[in-house]
Amino acid sequence: MANEAIPNLTAFDEAALGKAFAALEAQAREAAAVLDGEAAVEAFRLEWLGRKQGRLNEVSGRWLKAAPPEAKKALGVRFNALKAVVEDLLDAALGGGPGDATADAALRAEAIDITLPGTRRLTGAEHPIPRTMNEIVAVFAALGYSVGVGPEVETDYYNFESMNFPPEHPARDTQDTLVVANQERKPLRDRLLLRTHTSPVQMRTMEQQPPPVRIVIPGKVHRNDAADATHSPIFHQVEGLCVDTNITFSDLKGTLDYAMKALFGSSVKTRFFPSFFPFTEPSADVQISCIFCGGKGCRKCKDSGWIELLGCGMVDPAVFAFAAEKQPAYDSRKISGFAFGMGVERIAMMKYGISEIGSFFAGDMRFLGQFA
Ligand code: DAH
Repeated sequence: MANEAIPNLTAFDEAALGKAFAALEAQAREAAAVLDGEAAVEAFRLEWLGRKQGRLNEVSGRWLKAAPPEAKKALGVRFNALKAVVEDLLDAALGGGPGDATADAALRAEAIDITLPGTRRLTGAEHPIPRTMNEIVAVFAALGYSVGVGPEVETDYYNFESMNFPPEHPARDTQDTLVVANQERKPLRDRLLLRTHTSPVQMRTMEQQPPPVRIVIPGKVHRNDAADATHSPIFHQVEGLCVDTNITFSDLKGTLDYAMKALFGSSVKTRFFPSFFPFTEPSADVQISCIFCGGKGCRKCKDSGWIELLGCGMVDPAVFAFAAEKQPAYDSRKISGFAFGMGVERIAMMKYGISEIGSFFAGDMRFLGQFA
């Protein structure tokens, strides 16, 4: 028998510890080398790792307890190393050939029932609205535009007045506004509302930085619209603003024509119709050739071959005048600019063939899962 009784340790210096642990390791290796059959392996396990009478337990009980405090750490390290050696020896012995009952039991304990359904990890998917918003932003980012954001609860000043909607002006009626309650005691310009468009971030941006500006602003907006297939009181827009010296309407047309081709495919054509927005002069509505019928006329484009997609125009000098209160460089005699705003839901509905705007907000996994 290779095993000898655990001796008492009297010296705890490195040399003494080294010798004592080396002797134990040699004994363990010797014993493991001749293990033969499951009973012998189990006996080896009990002999060395047994919780009460195992040799390692004895070592830790006697040597560790007797060791002076300064030697405990070195002893512990050697102890752990020896324990790892013994466990490896045991693992190797358990790995023994077929018919080894201990090994079988260990394997059975670890066995996987491959007939059980697996744990499925659901892959998250980007919601189609932020996804479309990011796509639009990326088109402009590639043109050198930076990205800005602004608050969703906005003041009357930024949402309307600074965008050249004077108090009481009928143009305000085109944006049915949800206002924050109990604001009546404040001056009108400070009253809070849910922003009806992302345009106020044009003003916030200009107040923060002098020209040149090239910025796109994705964000959520609210209007008191009755919900139907194409209207929702919550929706999203991407706003754009470009201000520099000598910005012309052709820059606007070129930029938006490029952007629509990048978003909908290079065969798409654009056309610009006169329109009105208080903050641009002149203003235009942009239509693209119908992406469903290629312009031939179909139900989607009401047989016109064209689909109206966004608003735009040259920044109104009155808007620059508001910006100039904080940044005098917005002097409409020296600079000019264009702006545009598009609805994200409408674009996403066209791109993905979605017919109900409410699907975006209903949280139905059967809808959302299609974007995974
Ligand atoms: N703010 C407009 C709306 O919500 C959209 C828009 C039109 C934005 C023209 C613009 C613009 O910047 O130039 O209806």
